[in-house]
Amino acid sequence: MRVPIIAGNWKMNKNIEEAVSLVKDIKKGNMDKKVEVVLCVPFTDLYHVKEEIKGTNIKLGAQNMHWAESGAFTGEISPLMLKEIGVQYVIIGHSERRQYFNETDEIVNKKVKSAIAHGIKPIICVGETLEQREKGIEKDIVKTQVLDDLEDISGEDVLNIVIAYEPIWAIGTGKTASSEDVNNMLMFIRETIESKYGEDVSKEIRIQYGGSVKPNNIKELMAEEDIDGALVGGASLNAEDFLKLINF
Ligand code: PGA
Repeated sequence: MRVPIIAGNWKMNKNIEEAVSLVKDIKKGNMDKKVEVVLCVPFTDLYHVKEEIKGTNIKLGAQNMHWAESGAFTGEISPLMLKEIGVQYVIIGHSERRQYFNETDEIVNKKVKSAIAHGIKPIICVGETLEQREKGIEKDIVKTQVLDDLEDISGEDVLNIVIAYEPIWAIGTGKTASSEDVNNMLMFIRETIESKYGEDVSKEIRIQYGGSVKPNNIKELMAEEDIDGALVGGASLNAEDFLKLINF
């Protein structure tokens, strides 16, 4: 049984005061206990959000990390630092990092391996651009990303990973892929996992969808068999909307 996972990706939003107030508002609502809830917040909010989610089911997530434990990497944050603060999940290879900060699959793979070695669960983002979809090569692109990002990762470790399929053209644009299209791609990702790790692993690994997930489309998406949850940007910045997503 795959436990659904709804993760908020706040991106570069919310100062400390706003972060604490948002978490307080989320806590006021009812949360479906069968759903795993993760908040991936800016580094500067991590400590404060951790204090605020104590005693709740909400898990703490970061949005990036370096692969090294320490060293001369000005401006970077290490897995040990995240671990120390209580981070349980980390988004790796979000398309915005691939696009604006030149993160390649090789870098993503290094970060994923390091996160696993430090007991932090990676949420790996994959997905095609509009141009790639129009060319009809979206499956090739996603397959390459999945296989390269998971290079040298064992079948046991891969079950601690969540894959988020986020077509780039659907992020922050209000355009969602149809739930059928998404399910199709997620089935394909599961087949790709099966070819590398076998059927048992492919049936157990959780795969989310991300890209303009909102209260008005979550139900339809979650009704699909292969969609195990959502990675949510915009709609995670508002408690009312985020609660509706958790309680899809
Ligand atoms: P969005 O962002 O929900 O605002 O489209 C999703 C994401 O980038 O993870």
